[in-house]
Amino acid sequence: MKMVKILIIDDDDSTRDTLTTYLKELNFDTYSADCGKKGIALVKKINPDLVISDINMPDISGLEVLKAVKEIDELIQVIIITAYDDMDSTISAMQMGAYDYLEKPVDIKRLKLSIKRSLDNRQLSQKLVSYIPKPLSDADINKTIVGKTPVMREIFKKIGQASATRVTVLVQGESGTGKELIAKIIHSSGITKEHPFIAINCTALPENLLESELFGHDKGAFTDAVRDKRGKFELAGEGTVFLDEISEMSFNLQAKLLRVLQEHEFERVGGEVVIPFKARVIAATNSDMQNLVQQGKFREDLYYRLSVLTIFAPALRERRNDIEMLVRHFLQKINTNLHKNVRKIPNEVLKMLIDHEWRGNVRELENTLMQAVVLSKGDVLEKENVLLRKNQTALIDKQADGSVPTLAEVEKNYINRILESVNWDLNSASKILGVSKATVYRKIEVYGLKQF
Ligand SMILES: Nc1ncnc2c1ncn2[C@@H]1O[C@H](COP(=O)(O)OP(=O)(O)OP(=O)(O)O)[C@@H](O)[C@H]1O
Ligand SMILES: [Mg+2]
Repeated sequence: MKMVKILIIDDDDSTRDTLTTYLKELNFDTYSADCGKKGIALVKKINPDLVISDINMPDISGLEVLKAVKEIDELIQVIIITAYDDMDSTISAMQMGAYDYLEKPVDIKRLKLSIKRSLDNRQLSQKLVSYIPKPLSDADINKTIVGKTPVMREIFKKIGQASATRVTVLVQGESGTGKELIAKIIHSSGITKEHPFIAINCTALPENLLESELFGHDKGAFTDAVRDKRGKFELAGEGTVFLDEISEMSFNLQAKLLRVLQEHEFERVGGEVVIPFKARVIAATNSDMQNLVQQGKFREDLYYRLSVLTIFAPALRERRNDIEMLVRHFLQKINTNLHKNVRKIPNEVLKMLIDHEWRGNVRELENTLMQAVVLSKGDVLEKENVLLRKNQTALIDKQADGSVPTLAEVEKNYINRILESVNWDLNSASKILGVSKATVYRKIEVYGLKQF
């Protein structure tokens, strides 16, 4: 078998000698250089598998060595050694593609582990072809909706139809399926694109505040109304009002919204002037609206007004053929945002991603990849960094007395755990739990949960 070549670059004689002796004992074909320039020359000559370089050297820095090495051959792994705890150069080194960094004095056990992992990574990286195209511009990334399955093609068609007129659109789908993205693309690809896109979540505020957010108010309309305020309906102009979680809107406001849609005009709270309504409404929900209408929980007439054009955003598990394309898209997006370079995916990892349940749909996929990229050091999406949700949340905990908890107890504990994990940020908790914020509030009340 071919011996693994390691090059040590360090101006400090004793570090260089110690490492050389140690690595030779481990049967590596070991070389060394006492400055950056000689090191780079040697890299060209011997083509090592791994370079271990000090960061502070008199001629050129370890960061410059790293850059040069990666230009010579991207597959050469680089481990950087820092003399003190220098955050900035550590971050730069990792962003520039160093596999790891170690602090001086070098802990031999850590070095050994790091060498092993970097060489494994090199082998894996060598076998895989690069998978992810070069970064896109920010604007392009956020405006792209990915999919090639028949359901998604249908959605693209509907987006096209919707964007050519100001027709009202209802987008339905589970949490994280891309409802807001669809709304934004309808807005930005058609006649509304030069105008504002104004989003409001119908669960974010109590009823009276939501009303004044939407309609605006005149000075003196209520105690806190110290000046006139324009509402979202006015601010949207000829653009789009995105009403998220529409199913949670109170009956009272449903009636008022219906009037706006029918009359194309409205008044501010406490105001007399009639203001024309020119914007287009896109509403979204993760409830089954028809069902809510049948149960008398949502006004039928408003439902018909809103659903002139209805788009069903499919659950990710119903379009698994899109997963590979989405993974590629998100890695590109995440690499750009985080200045990382994770571009290769082992088949085993891809299969794992395609087979997963994805209860949190596209958002869960994106978050999972984000976490994996943050944890990955080389250019490979490593299996151990892809943490799927079923591994993260432990199954049922037994009660202290060993008995199995009731459903209510499980719910209570689970909600509590999620709240703790997001520091009681109700927005995040409601997203993770897949229910509205109002529901989270109610459960907190019911179970008497408290933040400590
Ligand atoms: N088809 C897709 N292509 C690319 N990115 C997508 C796609 N679908 C969703 N996303 C991305 O996934 C994330 C979640 O999407 P979005 O916020 O639109 O979901 P949602 O249905 O509104 O979720 P929620 O019900 O939780 O509000 C966003 O970052 C979005 O850009
Ligand atoms: Mg949303």
